[in-house]
Amino acid sequence: MASRWPERVRIREVGPRDGLQNEPGFVPTAVKLEWIDRLADAGLTYIEVTSFVSPKWIPPLADAEEVAAALRRREGVTYAALVPNMRGLERALRAGIDEAAVFMSASETHNRKNINKSIDETLPVLREVASAAKAAGKTVRGYLSTVFGCPYEGAVSVEQAVRLTEALLEMGVDEVSLGDTIGVGHPRQVEAVLTELLGRVPPDKIALHFHNTNGLALANTVIALQMGIRTFDASCGGLGGCPYAPGAAGNVSTGDMVRMLHAMEVRTGVDMTKLSEASAFILQALSRTG
Ligand code: HMG
Ligand code: MG
Repeated sequence: MASRWPERVRIREVGPRDGLQNEPGFVPTAVKLEWIDRLADAGLTYIEVTSFVSPKWIPPLADAEEVAAALRRREGVTYAALVPNMRGLERALRAGIDEAAVFMSASETHNRKNINKSIDETLPVLREVASAAKAAGKTVRGYLSTVFGCPYEGAVSVEQAVRLTEALLEMGVDEVSLGDTIGVGHPRQVEAVLTELLGRVPPDKIALHFHNTNGLALANTVIALQMGIRTFDASCGGLGGCPYAPGAAGNVSTGDMVRMLHAMEVRTGVDMTKLSEASAFILQALSRTG
């Protein structure tokens, strides 16, 4: 029987964005830049470095321009950023970001709390952003949040998640990242969602974005791996959370994910020693600013 385990997995490092957006203190720009550079040095080839959202909504990332301008760019690394609307895209393009990540939720209430629009109002905004980003020669990622549960509405239907994933792909998004925004998903649910979804969408278009509130992020990763998913989001130091999703704990830690994958003889390209040093670096910096 062919192995269900891949030889290699792609990791999308979201710490500098998802990790820092939820921190109470402002991490100095120079510290962000050194962390990002250490992550690249550790072999991470995709780093979400900041957000071009409203600084009033997300003050910890108010220095998006400064971060993007001073990146010590390394060949082979994609430097991505979150973009909510055309204003955000214009800022990101001026800043020279490689990939724009648009975002919306599978549940109406979280979508509204997070970006102040209904789902129906959001789709045309994201469509315009995706097509303008493509016209500018950029790749586009699409986050679909609250797929495994909403902090305001509870359960979210699989049908809704599939419908919105297809809508994102249809507007030209290269990869959809399904978010367990508050970390309530479990392996059987991941299996149910992926069974439905992978009947309609190829697995190489899908990434999974697990938060680890209930300690199930790695278990969820394993079932997704078995079902053919090869791209996972993770955050160095296990930082992360959405300020508009009460109860959201950190993302799955990049170190935990890499350690598990390497033990399973799945390659990631990440140097575990350098990653641990990058994690210690940011945790120490946060203990000074938090
Ligand atoms: P709004 O208030 O409805 O927008 O916010 P608006 O168009 O009425 O603008 C209000 C003000 O914001 C105006 O400024 C605009 O110019 C400004 P004012 O006149 O008051 O001075 N503005 C902007 N400024 C800078 N950059 C922009 C921008 N757009 C408007 N791009 C908006 C709508 C979408 C902007 C707001 O709701 C927002 O920024 N939300 C972002 C929330 C956020 O970042 N949440 C966390 C990320 S999502 C997440 O964590 C989940 C994820 O990790 C996956 C998972 O875990 O599931 C991705
Ligand atoms: Mg998240």
